[in-house]
Amino acid sequence: MCSLLVLFLISLQWLLILPLSSLGLQLHIQDKHVVMENGIVNVTISNPQGMVTGIRFNGIDNLLEVRNKESNRGYWDLVWEGEGSQGKKGTLDRIETTNMTVITQNEEQVELSFTRTWDPSLKGKVVPMKFDKRFIMRNGSSGLYIYAIYERLEGWPAVNVGNMRLVFKLNKDKFHYMAVSENRKREMPLPDDRLSNRSQKLAYPEAVLLVNPVEPQFKGEVDDKYQYSCESKDAILHGWISSSYSDPPTGFWQITPSNEFRSAGPTKQYLTSHVGPTSLTIVHSTHYAGSDLIMKFGSGEPWKKVFGPVFVYVNYLSNGGDGDPRQKLWEDANKQKVKEIQSWPYNFIASKDFPPSDQRGSISGRLMLQDGDRKIPANRAYVGVAPPGDVGSWQTECKSYQFWSRANANGSFSINNIRTGNYNLYAWVPGFIGDYKYDGAISITPGSHTNMDNLVYQPPRDGPTIWQIGFPDRSAAEFYVPDPDPKYINKLYVNHSDRFRQYGLWERYSELYPEGDMVYTVGVSDYRKDWFFAQVTRKNPDNTYQGTTWQVKFKLNKINKSGIYKLRLALATANVVQLQVRVNNPLQASPLFSTGQIGHDNTIARHGIHGLYRLFNVDLQGSLLVEGDNTIFLTQTESVSPFQGIMYDYIRLEGPPSSVS
Ligand SMILES: *[C@@H]1O[C@H](CO)[C@@H](O)[C@H](O)[C@H]1NC(C)=O
Ligand SMILES: *[C@@H]1O[C@H](CO)[C@@H](O)[C@H](O)[C@H]1NC(C)=O
Ligand SMILES: *[C@@H]1O[C@H](CO)[C@@H](O)[C@H](O)[C@H]1NC(C)=O
Ligand SMILES: *[C@@H]1O[C@H](CO)[C@@H](O)[C@H](O)[C@H]1NC(C)=O
Ligand SMILES: *[C@@H]1O[C@H](CO)[C@@H](O)[C@H](O)[C@H]1NC(C)=O
Ligand SMILES: *[C@@H]1O[C@H](CO)[C@@H](O)[C@H](O)[C@H]1NC(C)=O
Ligand SMILES: *[C@@H]1O[C@H](CO)[C@@H](O)[C@H](O)[C@H]1NC(C)=O
Repeated sequence: MCSLLVLFLISLQWLLILPLSSLGLQLHIQDKHVVMENGIVNVTISNPQGMVTGIRFNGIDNLLEVRNKESNRGYWDLVWEGEGSQGKKGTLDRIETTNMTVITQNEEQVELSFTRTWDPSLKGKVVPMKFDKRFIMRNGSSGLYIYAIYERLEGWPAVNVGNMRLVFKLNKDKFHYMAVSENRKREMPLPDDRLSNRSQKLAYPEAVLLVNPVEPQFKGEVDDKYQYSCESKDAILHGWISSSYSDPPTGFWQITPSNEFRSAGPTKQYLTSHVGPTSLTIVHSTHYAGSDLIMKFGSGEPWKKVFGPVFVYVNYLSNGGDGDPRQKLWEDANKQKVKEIQSWPYNFIASKDFPPSDQRGSISGRLMLQDGDRKIPANRAYVGVAPPGDVGSWQTECKSYQFWSRANANGSFSINNIRTGNYNLYAWVPGFIGDYKYDGAISITPGSHTNMDNLVYQPPRDGPTIWQIGFPDRSAAEFYVPDPDPKYINKLYVNHSDRFRQYGLWERYSELYPEGDMVYTVGVSDYRKDWFFAQVTRKNPDNTYQGTTWQVKFKLNKINKSGIYKLRLALATANVVQLQVRVNNPLQASPLFSTGQIGHDNTIARHGIHGLYRLFNVDLQGSLLVEGDNTIFLTQTESVSPFQGIMYDYIRLEGPPSSVS
């Protein structure tokens, strides 16, 4: 009797919160807000500022942080600096708009536009760009499509832009569980846990040690948003789940079905979700790349780009059943991700600046590798089209669109839904050094299909391999990544494939090599165990830092004294370093080779395993080598901070070109 009543009450509750999709699509334009609702979700946007102030869903009044001001819940922002303000940190602009227009309103969808323009009276005060923020609600859809068009007109002043994001701040009472990828999900600390009375700041403000968190389970852990970065190609779905007991399990997700509009290609790393609870779609940033990725517009330079659409998806569990509700919501969000990818490019976008599929073109082809006498398929190559530029320029390209895919095991690739325009075709192949670029121009027109069947990439090689260290894939993940200091753990990354995301690993170098720097002996050492993943600075007892010299020892039986040997140094990242090479004489005053000062990737502090890829090719005269034991000295000279250093991707010594041809 009693349990029946309970059951009845529960089912009544479920009934009451069941979305009533029969309500249809409605738009209410109020004095200071517009509200879109479709019977499933109810979205409120400030009018005319264009900030998302409320998302009502599944009986929860607002998924967003109601304690925050209306301008600090769901918004686009950017960081800019004008002419002559070099060196400053830049100005944050939350892109508050001034005009609202209803673009589409029918039974199937509502599209709203929030705009702001620029005029010369605003010079120096406001970023010289025009904005059009678009929001689309569709009937039957559990979420909101968001995109934005940024534009500069001729004659507008120069500007530099460092960061461009779409930000959501969720209700901290509800959203405690975060999912960034299949193997990166966890209960998260509260934003309060990062306050100075509950945490201790570590080497920089983003990283804190939780000393007195509200939930004792997080005590002793490190929290740092950079531990949740993702490569662009993998940052398609991430978000939060409400695990509050008072509400049924509810998920909030950002789905980015295409990364065509994100800067710098598929391997560029971006922040995703982090303590706040915050959920970001970053479309442009300098992270893991540095000043090479500042978006620089010259005086008068016109520009236009569409960012998005991205889909804000919300889901809930209609009935519990067995199993972890969080996993079910994650799996459902993954299904939605697949649906969004399948419907890309969306055919319901009103702006002419977002072309649907039939106004785009495609390319397919096959890439082969010519490595010495071998001609083999470019197995799983990354192949992409990006604006015309130098070999490898896609790594720092950020004003236009890029379209990438992976070749199959046969080197066959196809890239669909490319916007019209002129491109170069670029590629790189895991297992091989260097960058491929197809020399011809590629022009994409509406409906065009280009077939490029016989592309051949000849990776750099002058002679046979004498020895090699690591695997050439632009990452240092295969090298030795130490355990973190037990004082600085993120539990997620204990016994995890991404051990490199732990805090403070740079400090482990001096602890593991207290007496002298790393020495690697070819044929004896194993790079998985004996090659420290980053050539960082050494900390001195007086808290200053010094550069380090790593040695690679190897034996040669026979030397071609008149031949030229080649040292290939492929770097996975560099941060304010100078790498010098010496052979058999560490004291030689001027090195055989120096990179000069390179890199502002800041990968070490941000727990990455790669930044920008750089390949250096060093000629070694045979006369420098000796029969028997030889040593190559790799000296990193720069030493003002713990975050300076190099991650190697791969090193190879080649013998002289064989005389037979
Ligand atoms: C939609 O949500 C807003 C704000 O959360 C609220 O004011 C409005 O009444 C809601 N509309 C309906 C029909 O519930
Ligand atoms: C904004 O709206 C006002 C009044 O509706 C109009 O006069 C003005 O031209 C609009 N500005 C833009 C940039 O659309
Ligand atoms: C959306 O509305 C149209 C027109 O009323 C209708 O035909 C369609 O079935 C609706 N779709 C959903 C998913 O509700
Ligand atoms: C920490 O500081 C915040 C504001 O500065 C305050 O609201 C909170 O009560 C403090 N918490 C503790 C545990 O002292
Ligand atoms: C690779 O090529 C071979 C021979 O042309 C073919 O049989 C095979 O199906 C191809 N595999 C893929 C994955 O395309
Ligand atoms: C580490 O992970 C492996 C494989 O995922 C598992 O078999 C092992 O039990 C884990 N060890 C610890 C200490 O959690
Ligand atoms: C030594 O190197 C030179 C220059 O590369 C080459 O011409 C010569 O054939 C090489 N000698 C042998 C024995 O391989």
